[in-house]
Amino acid sequence: MLLRLPGVYRPQADSYLLAQALRSERLGPGTRVLDLCSGTGVLSAQAAEAGAEDITAVDIGRRALMNTRMNLWLRGTRVRVARGDLTAPVRDEQFDLVVSNPPYVPAASDHVPARGAARAWDAGLNGRSLLDRICVEVPEILSSRGVLLLLQSALADVGKTHVMLEEQGLEVEVVRTEEIPFGPVTTSRRDMLRRRGLIEDGQDRERLVVLRAGRPGRAQHD
Ligand SMILES: C[S@@+](CC[C@H](N)C(=O)[O-])C[C@H]1O[C@@H](n2cnc3c(N)ncnc32)[C@H](O)[C@@H]1O
Repeated sequence: MLLRLPGVYRPQADSYLLAQALRSERLGPGTRVLDLCSGTGVLSAQAAEAGAEDITAVDIGRRALMNTRMNLWLRGTRVRVARGDLTAPVRDEQFDLVVSNPPYVPAASDHVPARGAARAWDAGLNGRSLLDRICVEVPEILSSRGVLLLLQSALADVGKTHVMLEEQGLEVEVVRTEEIPFGPVTTSRRDMLRRRGLIEDGQDRERLVVLRAGRPGRAQHD
């Protein structure tokens, strides 16, 4: 059972695709896991179920972190929560697994909302306002055997994520994809996305992708 407080992102296809990828990782009590952009904590909960005991969750929203704490408490697992902007609260630490489902939906402007529900999905004109930062910031907090599992939509340029992570010295592969119908937010933006050439005429589906990036020679996944 997963509780969700009002205003916190409801776990959906993207959360579950990333959870699937997480289940293929070998986690143990000593694996240091970071759930970056935790929302309800659905991925922290998945990590706990997979055997992790050293879990940190970061979100910019107070309520999201309260929600994460509640859901892990219900499972009898401790989670350390840290409120802040992406990796800022954990900048001096190292993690063996960073899992992130950040905002990635292309928006009407580059203004990133400071509050409200849209903060969970709006990510600037090209959908990359957080993705670009993750590609640069996360490699700095990965341990020598560290792995990043990152979810995004193909609408936000998967190729750029791939190249940016490789530029940081990581090996990158796509480990999960799923095509899903546009949700309400993307549907309401179809005209804008088509005008910008991000989707084709009549397109009503998008591809979700999980990228796995790690240091060369890192631990294997199943
Ligand atoms: C798409 S939701 C994902 C939630 C959850 N991980 C899941 O998969 O269901 C994105 C989350 O990112 C958080 N967020 C947005 N901007 C952030 C930032 N700059 N730093 C940290 N968290 C942020 C939002 O509050 C929201 O909880």
